[in-house]
Amino acid sequence: MTAKQDLLKGLFMADVPNMSKFRKPGHDISPIFINRWSPRAMSGEEISKEELMRLFEAARWAPSSFNNQPWRFLYAMRNTGHWEKFFGLLSVNNQSWCKNAAALIVTVSKKTFDFNGKPARTHSHDTGAAWVSLALQGSFMGLVVHGMQGFDYDRAKTELLVSDEHQVEAMIAVGRPGNKYDLPFALEQREFPSDRRKLEEIVFEGGFAK
Ligand SMILES: Cc1cc2nc3c(=O)[nH]c(=O)nc-3n(C[C@H](O)[C@H](O)[C@H](O)COP(=O)(O)O)c2cc1C
Repeated sequence: MTAKQDLLKGLFMADVPNMSKFRKPGHDISPIFINRWSPRAMSGEEISKEELMRLFEAARWAPSSFNNQPWRFLYAMRNTGHWEKFFGLLSVNNQSWCKNAAALIVTVSKKTFDFNGKPARTHSHDTGAAWVSLALQGSFMGLVVHGMQGFDYDRAKTELLVSDEHQVEAMIAVGRPGNKYDLPFALEQREFPSDRRKLEEIVFEGGFAK
């Protein structure tokens, strides 16, 4: 890395903890929610298996209907024989920045309850809860954790041997933070924490208005 890049990286990294510049919660909440975000810049370094397992461990403790724990995580770490299979599922756009990820995860949910085999309505909802736990844990650990829909769902199902009892939900890129100036220009321009809708747009006392 050049001295200029180091300087730029330093300036950018200095920005990251200052979430209040980008995000202003309307009510008093824990900073954990504001500090989690989805950068795309990653360094290309590996992470250890133990670090990755800490993310899955956090996900493991998510709540679920009947404690069915429908989440399943299929993964590949960079510099292993599994990497190309997972990387090849991604859209070209996602590949452009995921090439520097340390791990790629495909989240899958089991569609039925273990105890009676009946459809579990909230399998996606519960797996979403587990994904957020994983993302928050990654944020605590200073890792990039970035969810993705941009990949080939059909190929993921076939190539990762996902049965009809399961549903492919999303992919997740995990890595060490990198330099945003190494991203393609269009992505570099979007490399900052996003805002949210106002509470009034998403919360409705008594149901939706007629
Ligand atoms: C299920 C899911 C799918 C996503 N798909 C993509 C994707 O394919 N490519 C991408 O660059 N970002 C993707 N994102 C990232 C979102 O754009 C990002 O989470 C959102 O803009 C909110 O920003 P934040 O996570 O930084 O708070 C996805 C996020 C989620 C949760």
